Amino acid sequence: MADESPFRNTVLKGKVALITGGGSGICFEIATQFGLHGAMVAIMGRRKHVLDAAVASLESLGIRAVGVQGDVRKKEDASRVVETVVEELGRLDILINGAAGNFLSAAEDLSPNGFKTVMDIDTVGTFTMSHAAVNYLKQGGKGKGPNEGGVIISISATLHYSANWYQIHVSAAKAAVDSLTRSLALEWGTDYKIRCNGIAPGPISGTPGMEKLNPEEAGISSGDAVPLGKMGEKWDIAMAAIFLASESGKYINGAVLPVDGGSWLAKPRYISKEQLRQFGRAVEQRSRSKTQLPNSKL
Ligand code: COA
Repeated sequence: MADESPFRNTVLKGKVALITGGGSGICFEIATQFGLHGAMVAIMGRRKHVLDAAVASLESLGIRAVGVQGDVRKKEDASRVVETVVEELGRLDILINGAAGNFLSAAEDLSPNGFKTVMDIDTVGTFTMSHAAVNYLKQGGKGKGPNEGGVIISISATLHYSANWYQIHVSAAKAAVDSLTRSLALEWGTDYKIRCNGIAPGPISGTPGMEKLNPEEAGISSGDAVPLGKMGEKWDIAMAAIFLASESGKYINGAVLPVDGGSWLAKPRYISKEQLRQFGRAVEQRSRSKTQLPNSKL
């Protein structure tokens, strides 16, 4: 069970959020937490039965929610979904680009079409949805005041900060998503006062993504390598999204926030602290004597 929210339950009151990929996983949790913090939420996905179940679950919590079927890769779907959301909920304040495709494949086993499919969902889909939403998100857009710009949050990853095994397609796609975030922050922040940011989740338990990238057959607990010692929860990503989407993030534009317990920085410790304390100064002394530096502070 996740912790209690540190945010007031009205921080997103009156806001309308469209969350792509919001029918399941991390993005369903974002939809839930946005709703519990006062927002009306629309979720977009390809599978109607998944959307229907998700909407029913949101409504059972007293959240005003709609599900709109569509594929982020299709420009007609993107426009139709955005228009439906504004028609049904009156305006659009927040777009979460969460829809993503993922699977493990060695680079030489991945067909160019497999590579393109993930680029299309993650990168082209993020651009297509943002493009379809810009006229509603911008200041003065339908239902908005003249100084009331919206927010885009695109979900990426930390894979591409270095490199990762068997995810050449996902790494390339997420690197491009982060690049879109920065370009849009510059252009649409300046022209339309739309704040564009990203969230880069690390290993998050109980998600379809994690099931695919760390299948139980691999027998690895992803928490082992995380500096904070455990995998994250979907709740952690949802809280970061509230932070960025609400007034707490009002001066944040063009940032990609890793929410990964520090895991992308993780490296095995090659000398124990005890060893270091034993020989660290002796090593320095030896080095100074060789270069004839004074040993005054050692
Ligand atoms: N390994 C290697 N290649 C694969 C693959 C796998 N596990 N899964 C799909 N592909 C390839 C296919 O072979 C195909 O290429 P080809 O035409 O050269 O054979 C290409 O990818 C497209 O596959 P297709 O099944 O037609 O795509 P789709 O649009 O129906 O599905 C995926 C898209 C593959 C990304 C699918 O996993 C998906 O829908 N994912 C969304 C859910 C998800 O991944 N959630 C986790 C989010 S983090």
